[in-house]
Amino acid sequence: MKTIRDVNLEGKRVFVRVDFNVPLDEHGQVSDMTRITAALPTINYLIQQKAKIILASHLGRPDGTKNEKYSLAPVAKGLSELLKQPVLFLTDCIGEKIISTVNKLANSEVALLENVRFYAEETDNDEKFSQELAKLADAYVNDAFGTAHRAHSSTAGIAKFLSPCVAGFLIERELEFLGKKTANPEHPFTVILGGAKVSDKISVIDALLDKADNMIIGGAMAYTFLLAQGHKIGNSLVESDKIDTALAAIKKAKEKNVQLVFPVDSVATDHIDFANRTVGTTQIFGLDIPDGMSGIDIGPKSVEQFSEIVRQSKTILLNGPMGIFEIKESAKGTFAIAEAIAQNREAISIIGGGDSVKAINKSGHSEDVTFISTGGGASLEFLEGKTLPGIAVLDQ
Ligand code: 3PG
Repeated sequence: MKTIRDVNLEGKRVFVRVDFNVPLDEHGQVSDMTRITAALPTINYLIQQKAKIILASHLGRPDGTKNEKYSLAPVAKGLSELLKQPVLFLTDCIGEKIISTVNKLANSEVALLENVRFYAEETDNDEKFSQELAKLADAYVNDAFGTAHRAHSSTAGIAKFLSPCVAGFLIERELEFLGKKTANPEHPFTVILGGAKVSDKISVIDALLDKADNMIIGGAMAYTFLLAQGHKIGNSLVESDKIDTALAAIKKAKEKNVQLVFPVDSVATDHIDFANRTVGTTQIFGLDIPDGMSGIDIGPKSVEQFSEIVRQSKTILLNGPMGIFEIKESAKGTFAIAEAIAQNREAISIIGGGDSVKAINKSGHSEDVTFISTGGGASLEFLEGKTLPGIAVLDQ
């Protein structure tokens, strides 16, 4: 795959698809700059290369209508502060007026288009819309790893009308860590999966059982595995229709000689109030949880066992929390595993996107791991071994 390093973009109008789908606070200000910061190496490089930089992104899911709530204007402000140079915010992403404005950009100037999802044609990957976007530029750079699993106009369709089409540094780095480092890992390679549902992760489990030495399953998805092995799980979240899937994964792990590890104890409660982030009384149980109680976190023995495996690993991939980390009483397991990963300085540690990123940030250990993916759905699909449309369209 070609990257911005392989092409000369001096003086060229470069359409750069970034993923600035960032959270906004109640005042409409960007509340987490991670994704904007992650795009800086590419933007700064293009500034140095004297390109004319036209940034495009979506924000939220405005469903094809113009809606101020999803405007990228606050992002332009935040980006300008980070770049320490003005960012010209354009109030649309296609049309004659926008074309004439971008044609007047000087070398190294940066413009940000308004949300591409204000047009339904974007998510439809409409050919005419892709062509309209392409009229703004001479070259295409994709650095939106978080959206690379979407075949939309600005992530895929546009590539048909522009040349060269190359990757930015963020995509390059994501592929290096989620791809190369897990395809040829330093052993022992430990995969830690968590989260609510087996169904969300089954393809990842299947793909990574081919590569891992240890696979640790925590979070509510562990209860489907425990039930499949004949344990009592009380009122814990479970997917009864995924018992066979769980048994198939257990069988594959045996065949592949992968140590598949489940919690040996759980923190459980008689009541969960997600809205108010509270739980009822909590109690620790071993492998079996009685009726009326729901598992909400891994217990202390599991923390110790999982941490020991982490300590002995050379490559660690974490995807998904161990419990409901948003609630204090069920956050310990997730944070303890984050700490164990952070303390293993010898290992390459990769945090695979989505909720695990929130968890690692909240645990205070985000600086202590090797790599944190900016992709949620994209990193899952990539780890499953799928070809991401936003990457497939780039020049090889
Ligand atoms: C994300 O936040 O996962 C990406 O920006 C993709 O957003 P989407 O799920 O709305 O396509």
